[in-house]
Amino acid sequence: MILTSIPCTTLLYWTAAIVSSSAILFLASLRLYVFCTLGICKSKNRMDGKTIIITGCTSGIGKETARDLAKRGARIIMACRNTDTANQFKDEIVKESNNSNIVVRKLDVSSLQSIRKFSQQINQEESRLDVLIHNAGTAETFKKKITEDGLEQTMATNYFGPFLLTHLLIDLLKRSKSSRILVVASELYRLACLNLDNINPTSTLPAYLYYVSKYANIVFTLELARRLEGTEVTANCLHPGMIDSGIWRSVPAPLSWGLDLIVKAFFKTPEQGAQTTIHLAVSDELKGVSGKYFMDCAEYKLSNAVKDPAKGKKLWELSEPLVKLQSSDPKI
Ligand SMILES: NC(=O)c1ccc[n+]([C@@H]2O[C@H](COP(=O)([O-])OP(=O)(O)OC[C@H]3O[C@@H](n4cnc5c(N)ncnc54)[C@H](OP(=O)(O)O)[C@@H]3O)[C@@H](O)[C@H]2O)c1
Repeated sequence: MILTSIPCTTLLYWTAAIVSSSAILFLASLRLYVFCTLGICKSKNRMDGKTIIITGCTSGIGKETARDLAKRGARIIMACRNTDTANQFKDEIVKESNNSNIVVRKLDVSSLQSIRKFSQQINQEESRLDVLIHNAGTAETFKKKITEDGLEQTMATNYFGPFLLTHLLIDLLKRSKSSRILVVASELYRLACLNLDNINPTSTLPAYLYYVSKYANIVFTLELARRLEGTEVTANCLHPGMIDSGIWRSVPAPLSWGLDLIVKAFFKTPEQGAQTTIHLAVSDELKGVSGKYFMDCAEYKLSNAVKDPAKGKKLWELSEPLVKLQSSDPKI
């Protein structure tokens, strides 16, 4: 009765006003959330005399991590597959940081052969390794690819590569004392589960395998920390936040149009995204801390599903033959 007495244009006006103010309120809350959850690494520690490997530092979070750690005086080994881009960036950070102790080494973390070649070179050339940062990552949406080793590309890059690389560098890490292994995982692990009957699921959609690979990253880190107990090597993983980086580049149009708007408006910058990695690499308070998950430079709770030691042990054992681990390789 009342509704029918209100003119149609007034009704439309009020509906539009309510919808748009709700949208503005929602977006403002999202912005506030992003701002309030901004963890900044407060440590001013220098890293002179320390050697740090960062995988995948030609863009995004890895690039900003390298820039910051170079300014702290560390020897930075940029482990990248695209060495031309890496060398251009290297020149930029040498100039910016006044630190010329930065080298580029070729590493395609999705290729077992490349990982072996890279590790051999590192073990020959380097006398110490204080921090190993598994940062390189890929998030293909639809395009399926199987690597030359028969591994699904997303899983190979994000999980199997770091698994093998850790093995091949573990002796150097152990010799360096108080060394740290960091794995850049993701909160998106909560959307996945790990099928231990098939940890190399070549027919599954890559978009979903990204979540699975990040789940595997966390299970792996916790198992690694258990196996490294009693040594002076720690292993921790982290979620960098939702970051405006190159990781979203494979999302096809028209999906990417909406996503781009959200990413540009609400996601953190790569510099902000590097903060938790930097915190874990340099902070004194992290000395001896192992087997934990971090977000916004603070420890964060994990789901019970990833913490199961039986799952960690099984994943480990299943991964060894898939990365063709040899009996002569270091055991962890
Ligand atoms: N952005 C986010 O919101 C977000 C959230 C959670 C977790 N993460 C994680 O953060 C890490 C860094 O990603 P990002 O966001 O900074 O993305 P990004 O800008 O795309 O950077 C990824 C880096 O990994 C490198 N990479 C990819 N595949 C490689 C391979 N096979 N071998 C060697 N390097 C390879 C890329 O090198 P090329 O230039 O050669 O491609 C690039 O340098 C990833 O592990 C990602 O899963 C990101």
